Amino acid sequence: MQKIVVEGGATLNGEVRISGAKNAVLPILCATLLADEPVEITNVPRLHDVATTVKLLSELGAGISTDEHYSITVDPRSVHSQVASYELVKTMRASVLVLGPLLAKYGHAEVSLPGGCAIGSRPVDLHIKGLQSLGADITVENGYIKARAKRLKGARHVFEIVSVGATENVLMAAALAEGRSVLENAAMEPEIVDLAECLIAMGAQIEGAGTNRIIVHGVERLHGGTHAVVPDRIETGTFLVAAAMTGGRITTTHARPDTLDAVVDKLKEAGAELDCDGDRITLDMHGRRPRAVNVTTAPHPAFPTDMQAQFMAMNCIADGVAVMNETIFENRFMHVNELMRLGADIRVDGHTAVVRGVQQLGGAPVMATDLRASASLILAGLVAQGETTIDRIYHLDRGYENIEAKLGGLGANIRRIR
Ligand code: EPZ
Repeated sequence: MQKIVVEGGATLNGEVRISGAKNAVLPILCATLLADEPVEITNVPRLHDVATTVKLLSELGAGISTDEHYSITVDPRSVHSQVASYELVKTMRASVLVLGPLLAKYGHAEVSLPGGCAIGSRPVDLHIKGLQSLGADITVENGYIKARAKRLKGARHVFEIVSVGATENVLMAAALAEGRSVLENAAMEPEIVDLAECLIAMGAQIEGAGTNRIIVHGVERLHGGTHAVVPDRIETGTFLVAAAMTGGRITTTHARPDTLDAVVDKLKEAGAELDCDGDRITLDMHGRRPRAVNVTTAPHPAFPTDMQAQFMAMNCIADGVAVMNETIFENRFMHVNELMRLGADIRVDGHTAVVRGVQQLGGAPVMATDLRASASLILAGLVAQGETTIDRIYHLDRGYENIEAKLGGLGANIRRIR
């Protein structure tokens, strides 16, 4: 099993290029199933989850080709199966995002229930209810979601709670439904906007993506097109936190500053100086120790749950006490026990963690439990005295492209051992 070893103490400086967003490219790859012609996706990050999604599309029969820049062209004309198997779906929850497209395009789909994951049970009831609003007949049998619909009909649907994935599944299905759909209490994440822009490039008629009310005028068919994936705001935030923790000065390039306002505001509150200029964000900590910052996660545009673990790592060595509330997932503090192995002072009570900043963490062997927890352990290793070894880093490779090369390029002392 591969591990990452970090020698703490380096101050990060320099430039780092941001990759396309994992949480945009996954639904966008699924959306290509809706088209009648090939769709080219560019600025695709080299991630394990992308490879898993490509494998799923291939299993459904779609033609896949990639170029030297890892742009991916999906040709859905050869799709011959509408079944997403448990073997594949159990490895990546986002596979459930083929449900809406397959149902809307072929009138039926069978997708394995994704099962839970480390950070929570993560049901898909909101996906199912949304598709039922569009007229789908859905049963859950033997661990599979079985959906049928002669032709989906546009409808008004109110999501009981804000759900990124459910919004994406229903938005994709509504694109080919007959008539107008209004999706209320929709998720407003930038990845939803990016998915909508890709669908519009394929001929969909969508207004309001990025607000909590999305209007879709269904069309008969969607044609091919090309779309560049939006830069990854969570990768961007992760590197900015790394610079803030080490007192350094970095610039993230090929980023989208307007997609991470809440994170930028919190970094300023922690004492960082930030300058956003086009697709570049520069953070300068001037060698200072970060101040502790309180964090409450909530749907976009509020503070993203995917940045909670990284900010906890920063609060572990910050000046002061921070209160952190995780309101989205029921079990997203798995990194706490591992951070405490490095000497962090954290008290968890339900959805709240109280973090008392310490002067110095000490390197130790730790274990990654989920994607963003892995990132927080690497960040902590950057400032811990001595060596920190992070095990089970397959979690990390799901969502960060070449993280050790990118951090190494900023001066971190980090290596992967086989
Ligand atoms: C997406 O997950 C992201 N994943 C997650 O990123 C992100 O943390 C999450 O949105 C919230 O922003 C992808 O986009 C691939 P939700 P998703 O549906 O769609 C509950 C990462 O680290 N819920 O918005 O699964 C759910 O349990 C990953 O990159 C239901 O109850 O999240 C959670 O408590 C982690 N029923 C809340 O809603 C449903 O049918 C929000 O989940 C669906 C969700």
